[in-house]
Amino acid sequence: MRHTFNLLTLTLPLAARASFEYLSVCKEIARSVSDASDVFYPGSFKFAKDVHHWASSSSAWSACSVEPGTAADVGIILKIVGKQRASFAVKGGGHASNPGFSSTSGVHIAMYRFNDVDYDAAAGTATVGAGLIWDDVYAALEPHGVNVVGGRVTGVGVAGFTLGGGYSWLSNQYGLTVDTVVAYELVTPDGTVRTVTADDTDMFWALKGGGNNFGIVTKFTLKTFPQGQVWGGLITYTADKLAAVKDAVVQFNAVNDTKAAVISAFNFLLGAPGVSQLIFYDGPTPPPGTFDMFTSIPHFTKDVSTRSFLSLVKSSPANITQGTRAIFNTVTVPDYTTDLMSAIVNETVKWGKSLAWDTGLFISYDVEPFARGYLQRERTSDSAFPPDRAAGVPLNIYYAWAFSGADDIMQDAARSSAARLQALVGNAKLPRYPNYAIMGTPLADMYGSNVDRLRSIAQNVDPEGVMSLAGGFKF
Ligand SMILES: Cc1cc2nc3c(=O)[nH]c(=O)nc-3n(C[C@H](O)[C@H](O)[C@H](O)COP(=O)(O)OP(=O)(O)OC[C@H]3O[C@@H](n4cnc5c(N)ncnc54)[C@H](O)[C@@H]3O)c2cc1C
Ligand SMILES: *[C@@H]1O[C@H](CO)[C@@H](O)[C@H](O)[C@H]1NC(C)=O
Ligand SMILES: *[C@@H]1O[C@H](CO)[C@@H](O)[C@H](O)[C@H]1NC(C)=O
Ligand SMILES: *[C@@H]1O[C@H](CO)[C@@H](O)[C@H](O)[C@H]1NC(C)=O
Repeated sequence: MRHTFNLLTLTLPLAARASFEYLSVCKEIARSVSDASDVFYPGSFKFAKDVHHWASSSSAWSACSVEPGTAADVGIILKIVGKQRASFAVKGGGHASNPGFSSTSGVHIAMYRFNDVDYDAAAGTATVGAGLIWDDVYAALEPHGVNVVGGRVTGVGVAGFTLGGGYSWLSNQYGLTVDTVVAYELVTPDGTVRTVTADDTDMFWALKGGGNNFGIVTKFTLKTFPQGQVWGGLITYTADKLAAVKDAVVQFNAVNDTKAAVISAFNFLLGAPGVSQLIFYDGPTPPPGTFDMFTSIPHFTKDVSTRSFLSLVKSSPANITQGTRAIFNTVTVPDYTTDLMSAIVNETVKWGKSLAWDTGLFISYDVEPFARGYLQRERTSDSAFPPDRAAGVPLNIYYAWAFSGADDIMQDAARSSAARLQALVGNAKLPRYPNYAIMGTPLADMYGSNVDRLRSIAQNVDPEGVMSLAGGFKF
């Protein structure tokens, strides 16, 4: 209750005053856009949907929400917020793990109306709207027997994922999502709608990992790949199996089959550690032995079968903690060795126990091994992220909790734990994945020597700094 009291006495008067100032901007937008777009205000169902995020700590109470229906209207909105210097946010799937990255007290732009999936069989591409989640894209492509390189678990948005990099079940075979983009429809801060392809060398490169610094993307054209039935799903293990799963990860790390992939989430929940193990094979049955190191460990639950790609994605437990407060952080590791895996298990237990005073606590270290040389495969162009194609694999540190009063403690812990693991893998930092990195991560830690070029591209396209009125990592 103490938290509610603080929120009402401190936050509300400020928020209410800010809202009042932004209200005129909302009204100007409502007057200026076409019938294809709408502005919604607090209290309406559409507003609540528009500002909603997977992590409640990533949501904010904005003055209004806008659902643009055309790229031209996105341009009109950008020109208005730019002229008024109004804070705004752009939200795709709402899975940002950092507060304020796709939320604002000003004008909240929700991209839901960009929801088409157009498959071009002749070109071998699919053009997908920036308001979609991957589940919807997979469902639309399934009847055609093709797929794109997208999210691994249910609910994740196409837009933020693709603008940051994109680690997929298919990355061992085809690279990151950014490696498969052939065109962007980009609305630049001056309101112009542009199609950005490889011909536009700088902007094409910058959009491959550079986030929301260059404007608002309305559509992505992605390469498609043949997709049949896959095999896999979710296995869970109890605390007594931690050591066995840890060893299995190290063993799996040596498997060379690019169709095989796993995510091993070492968790701490309700006072005890455990593992959520996702396994994936791009084919109806894996070759004998591929996943034996996991399937031979006695499980708590098991949902593994031959199924559609979409069914496998939906089998992930990602929605269980939807609506709690959350933070991600990351360290890029060269390899999953026995020592590193021991340290990760130690961190899970250590932070799980020391932070256990928060009753809603959930600690997770998501180990995501990839095949050797996966970043070099099918590489079609250079990209803003990763700056170094020899880079390792991102470990995802994920904490969830119940009360806003614990925000600082949990965010500090996520920073400390990353620093501890960083020290263990050596002080030469491999580039950190921006879609997992905690706010405040230095640009150079993510983009390395690409920072200067990205900064000059951002300055060129956005001399007035309109995109810096929106949250996110800024050049
Ligand atoms: C449960 C979960 C699972 C995940 N799994 C994976 C995974 O398997 N692989 C992986 O690589 N990452 C994964 N991520 C991280 C994910 O890539 C990021 O959270 C990503 O930002 C989500 O995109 P979104 O559109 O849902 O987010 P949003 O919160 O909508 O947006 C994130 C960022 O992108 C910007 N943005 C959104 N739309 C646009 C647009 N149209 N134009 C310009 N900027 C825009 C926002 O302003 C914000 O800065 C996962 C995250 C979660 C929470
Ligand atoms: C993977 O390939 C490497 C080199 O090509 C080889 O040394 C190693 O034994 C292979 N591992 C497995 C499990 O097949
Ligand atoms: C998870 O939640 C999202 C909404 O945030 C929803 O679209 C998706 O279908 C859910 N997935 C499952 C498997 O229930
Ligand atoms: C993990 O913890 C165990 C038991 O406390 C300890 O023996 C081991 O050295 C730790 N390993 C690492 C890599 O920190």
